[in-house]
Amino acid sequence: MSICYRTEERVFQLDTPGSSYLMGLVDEEGFVGHIYYGRKLGGDDLRYLLRTEERPFVPGKNNRERNAFLDSFPMEYPGSGSGDYREGAIEVRTRGGHQVVMPLYRSHKIYPGKPELPGLPATFGGEEDCDTLELVLWDQVLKLEAVLYYTAFRKLDVITRSVRVRNQGGEELYLTKVMSVAMDMDNREYDMLTLHGGWARERKLQRCPVALGKQSTGSIRGESSHQEHPFLALAEKGCSQKQGEVYALNFVYSGNFLAQTEGNQFDSVRVMMGIHPHQFCWRLEPGEQFQAPEAVLVYSCQGLGKMTRTFHDLYRSHLLRGEYKEKKRPILLNSWEAAYFDFNTDTLLKLAGQAAELGIEMLVMDDGWFGRRNDDNSSLGDWEVNEEKLSGGLKYLVDQVNQLGMKFGIWFEPEMISPDSDLFREHPDWALQVPGRGPSLTRNQLVLDLSRSEVVDCIYEKVAKVLRSANIEYVKWDMNRQLNDMGSIALPPDRQGELYHRYVLAVYELQRRMTEEFPHILLENCSGGGGRYDPGMLYYSPQIWCSDDTDAVERLSIQEGTAMIYPLSAMGAHVSDCPNHILGRTTPFATRGYVALAGTFGYELDVARISEADRAMIPEQVAMYHKYNDLVRQGDYYRLASYQENHGYDCWQVVSKDRTECLVTYIQVLSRPNVRSRRIFLEGLAPDRQYQIEGEERTYRGDTLMYGGLLMKPMQGDFQGTLIYLKMV
Ligand code: GLA
Repeated sequence: MSICYRTEERVFQLDTPGSSYLMGLVDEEGFVGHIYYGRKLGGDDLRYLLRTEERPFVPGKNNRERNAFLDSFPMEYPGSGSGDYREGAIEVRTRGGHQVVMPLYRSHKIYPGKPELPGLPATFGGEEDCDTLELVLWDQVLKLEAVLYYTAFRKLDVITRSVRVRNQGGEELYLTKVMSVAMDMDNREYDMLTLHGGWARERKLQRCPVALGKQSTGSIRGESSHQEHPFLALAEKGCSQKQGEVYALNFVYSGNFLAQTEGNQFDSVRVMMGIHPHQFCWRLEPGEQFQAPEAVLVYSCQGLGKMTRTFHDLYRSHLLRGEYKEKKRPILLNSWEAAYFDFNTDTLLKLAGQAAELGIEMLVMDDGWFGRRNDDNSSLGDWEVNEEKLSGGLKYLVDQVNQLGMKFGIWFEPEMISPDSDLFREHPDWALQVPGRGPSLTRNQLVLDLSRSEVVDCIYEKVAKVLRSANIEYVKWDMNRQLNDMGSIALPPDRQGELYHRYVLAVYELQRRMTEEFPHILLENCSGGGGRYDPGMLYYSPQIWCSDDTDAVERLSIQEGTAMIYPLSAMGAHVSDCPNHILGRTTPFATRGYVALAGTFGYELDVARISEADRAMIPEQVAMYHKYNDLVRQGDYYRLASYQENHGYDCWQVVSKDRTECLVTYIQVLSRPNVRSRRIFLEGLAPDRQYQIEGEERTYRGDTLMYGGLLMKPMQGDFQGTLIYLKMV
């Protein structure tokens, strides 16, 4: 059991292989204090770290100092409005308009395994993988129960947290804020790490010192977003890939989120993560409960690299699901950059035929196959095949593609509705809208009001009908605009504040239905590229389209930011045509292949329109994928160099779990004159074993490669790349 309660001390200790997390109960009132989180410790009494004796702080002893106590005590799950002037983790409004809430210890339960979160994605684990503590807090005045869930994993330095709030009183309550995790820590000059970006340039790392006052990242766009990311880490000064302490938080949720630090007068820092309180207000009837999503905490005292590998292991084993969880994915060719809206049965079959000859395994028909959709101005919601384009129908097309020996995949954007669609003409009230305000369009589309079950049912049936009609083995689920003008015609006034979250719950419900009815379908989520790349979506789809930007150089940084948290097996990556459609940059075809190899791998081009030389390279790339993908999918990932930091070259490495093989990818971004070779230091090898680089005679000891390094000679030309494959001999 990795969790224990020491009755005499009234202390809870959660242990993972390399970390400990301690909380303690103080005073007869039952304040729960955060004592410690960090490197693994033995069983010492650490209550002195709560500093309750430093000043006349203990409220039971000196009630005059109650506020001073509340304002400095490291509260495990702080309430609001009662003397702790830092921001609270939970806010509640009563019918009478009062807003004070103070949850205190009531009881607890410890058991092996991990409960599911009703209606929400979450990591999972069996009784042999993890243990759970349910810490029940109680506000006696409100008759409000807040159950804090902590799960400690036995083989990974991971603790997950979530909160379930229940109204046990006789009147309705309005929950206006509920963070999934709060932590009061001493600020040991931490840096705050967050990921930011925009469309086509997602997830770039930002690092800045944790300051006094509040710093936050968050999304109020209705999705986790291209712009911000539900990730926040506190890292020791100087923490690098290989060294230093880091505390990382990742939110298993796909909607609005807030991740915040608050440095205060005593140099402590309160860290919080949860659903963004912006426009959030959830009405809780007597007896009703609200389940807040899960936050994952990863601790590493071996730098960001170890943090990354812990996330990868956790998500590969305890988040991804379904048939493709561990399986190699078919190499696909997506019609989007190959044809955009301009295709029909003949052109698709021609494309598939040529692709099949080159070894590509699946044709994906992207946007443009339904309703009257010949550009992006119409037909979302009309999920019926456009037989003018697809003469012979969908089944005919799919059968023909199957006869070529290829699988078939299809694109949907189920959450949206075009004003120019039969669905909208029939149900104009099905779009999210605020009465009296004109519809606010993005890409000429509106968002369906998924808080209404009839809308969810109708859309599910439309999509499922298509999927039932032919042998479809892959679905790309897109979402091409963010949410605003939040209003539902169906919700009463005091429930409009539930809309953002109800929307996300409905997306999960739709994907749950789809994955249950069609377990053989490989689902890939997407949102204008990587606008909803988060662990919530990964629970339903084992891969997500990483970015609309397929330029090999831009992808280096996008994939670096993504792979900081998410396994390579989940990163949608394709080789596309050049000049790149977004940037106009031309990179060598081989380099585009090396970069896409670090993800799911596929193509996004018309094989007939690329040069003979590039086309000839496809069978080689297909062979390369088949040779290395097991390693890429299952191995340990090491970031050896980032071109954003060194402005010159990028390098990463994947090592098999048994350390017998390893693949290094080296990309020289810009060529420079008059330079010597670069030295790269491998990681994760067995120091005293011999390794041989494929194509070379000599062998190297693992320690030589790790501490002596390898020399990478300058290559002729910009954007050149190379792979180095080593095997233990
Ligand atoms: C989004 C996706 C693209 C493509 C288009 C189709 O932008 O990210 O890959 O599917 O939509 O409209």
